[in-house]
Amino acid sequence: MPLPVPVLPEGVDPAWLPPEAFRPLGSRRVLVRGSGPLVETVHGEVAEACARFGGRAVREDGPGDTEYDVVLELTDDDPDRLEEEGYTYLREDGRTTVTAAGGAGLLYGLFHLVRLDETAFRRERRKEAHRPTPALRMVDHWDNVAVHPVMGQVERGYAGGSLFWEDGRARGDLERVRAYGRLLAACGINAVAVNNVNVHETEAHLLTDRIGEVAAIADALRPYGIRTHLSVTFAAPVVLGGLPTADPLDEAVREWWAGAVRDVYGAIGDFGGFVVKADSEGQPGPFSYGRSHADGANMLAAALAPHGGTVHWRAFVYNHTQDWRDRSTDRARAAYEHFAPLDGEFAANAVLQVKHGPMDFQVREPVSPVLGAMPHTRLAVEVQATQEYTGQQRHVCWLGPMWSEALRFRPEGERGPQVGELADGLVAVSNVGDDPFWTGHPLAQANLYTFGRLAWQPDADPHRLLDEWIGLTFGPAPEHLAAGLRAALSGSWRTYEKYTAPLGVGFMVQPGHHYGPSVDGYEYSPWGTYHFADRDGIGVDRSAATGTGYAAQYGKPWAEVYESPDTCPDELLLFFHHVPYEHVLHSGKTVIQHIYDTHFEGVAEVEEARRVWAGLADLVDPARHARGAERYEEQLRGAREWRDQINSYFLRKSGIPDRQGRRIY
Ligand code: GCU
Repeated sequence: MPLPVPVLPEGVDPAWLPPEAFRPLGSRRVLVRGSGPLVETVHGEVAEACARFGGRAVREDGPGDTEYDVVLELTDDDPDRLEEEGYTYLREDGRTTVTAAGGAGLLYGLFHLVRLDETAFRRERRKEAHRPTPALRMVDHWDNVAVHPVMGQVERGYAGGSLFWEDGRARGDLERVRAYGRLLAACGINAVAVNNVNVHETEAHLLTDRIGEVAAIADALRPYGIRTHLSVTFAAPVVLGGLPTADPLDEAVREWWAGAVRDVYGAIGDFGGFVVKADSEGQPGPFSYGRSHADGANMLAAALAPHGGTVHWRAFVYNHTQDWRDRSTDRARAAYEHFAPLDGEFAANAVLQVKHGPMDFQVREPVSPVLGAMPHTRLAVEVQATQEYTGQQRHVCWLGPMWSEALRFRPEGERGPQVGELADGLVAVSNVGDDPFWTGHPLAQANLYTFGRLAWQPDADPHRLLDEWIGLTFGPAPEHLAAGLRAALSGSWRTYEKYTAPLGVGFMVQPGHHYGPSVDGYEYSPWGTYHFADRDGIGVDRSAATGTGYAAQYGKPWAEVYESPDTCPDELLLFFHHVPYEHVLHSGKTVIQHIYDTHFEGVAEVEEARRVWAGLADLVDPARHARGAERYEEQLRGAREWRDQINSYFLRKSGIPDRQGRRIY
């Protein structure tokens, strides 16, 4: 039986799957062949599209006849090594054929046709094989079941409440979750973690007595090839099991976990596994028992292994109660120091989940040295789609180019592999909530879409993916609309960087909620995020010769490149070095003049983007356009505030005037 396509609740934006996107497919004669639950999902999609657009959907398991324009078929043999998720695409003799060895592959092949639009059915094409590079392509929701008094329902969420949880329970109606699964599958994501990495007491119970609620969510996501994961607290044996300890080497603790996991699989047969934030920002972990993070991760891996589950163990471990006077501690060094010595010690079903930069999702950071230092460990790169430090979905900041730079970074230099090849998985912190536009700012949908597609192919050109997103979301758009959207989005990350913290120095945000400027907001805090600006200069000396030694955590050539201000790339200069304001960048400008110039430019670029968006009013759905327009007003206000606070701060600190004599307060 075809699985019905999810019906969006009234007023919810279809994002990158508007019904129109299925017109070319749905107006043809389409054969779906093969059996299995995901094939029924494909069948449902085809049946719905054909019913809407006048085509004909045929479900037939017998040998093919010739009357079809499109064939989507599952094969028993797999000569192209497509495995579960790959597919081939071919256009020959007027027929388009998608072949897969697994149901998930057929589903991804279907969405490939949708992306190609009419071109999927026009030009002859030789057989192409498509497979995802990393196997794990996951979105982590930092959703609380109960509304947290400080963090709200979704920690760092800027798109309303949770899609999964409402009034302290799993939603009764999960139709929108099904629709979410469909959107995720259409960009290649195959895993979701449904609760916050900071596991509060209510959420801890999802693992045991509330697993039925998780199972209901898993049921909604499964038909789109998505495996459900749970964030768990390391202290679960104590908190939920009543044991006196959570020591990972304690036999009773290990048995408790084995039993808990068995029950989870009793409820969710294809459960994906756990996400764990341990010994991090106050969460419990193995350090309390004098054990290593490999001990901790491997204990959970052992419990999950018999059932085919994976533990995603986060590497975000650092001292968050630092004394700002202590110059010997450098937060950037922490992950490498904790984890690099453990390379090779993690179980085969343990994945170390590493933030792409060494700090915390700033607009500019170097690539984490952990990613090049653990060849014998399975790694996942974690990025933040939710725009905690990049404008909180009130500002447009398309992060595709930033993620792409990190994924294409070669830790061993020119001849070595890219980060995207070293990684077994890509993970994004979700930017989605129950907002009608899913992501607050309608243009922030592009971040989730781009993430999914980069997770599928980490070396893809992000600008091509942006075009894909535009094509799907806005239909066969007139060139004027596509060009406008490209103009608004493609440079928006660099624009955001220009008007916020300069040259990789990071933070300078308001403490707590992290929105808007506060140059010294974190300067004397325990969080380890300092810029050290004084009257003479700014930046953090992380060189090996005179600084914290962080630069030496890289292999060649990067350790040398970052070691000296002469070779360090401009955009990371203040991350690695403390320099005088009159230090001359490779660009030829002084640091201080660069700060002034970029802040004026950044605001001018936002003004221009706002103008472009206003000019698209007639071409964009009115509700979507109004939401974007309202957010552009706030972005412009915010950008001006950033410009004026940063420029005034540095004029006052340095006493060096702007060469162009512009107004600084
Ligand atoms: C950031 C964020 C926290 C989050 C943490 C994490 O620090 O501000 O809200 O819990 O990252 O990644 O665990």
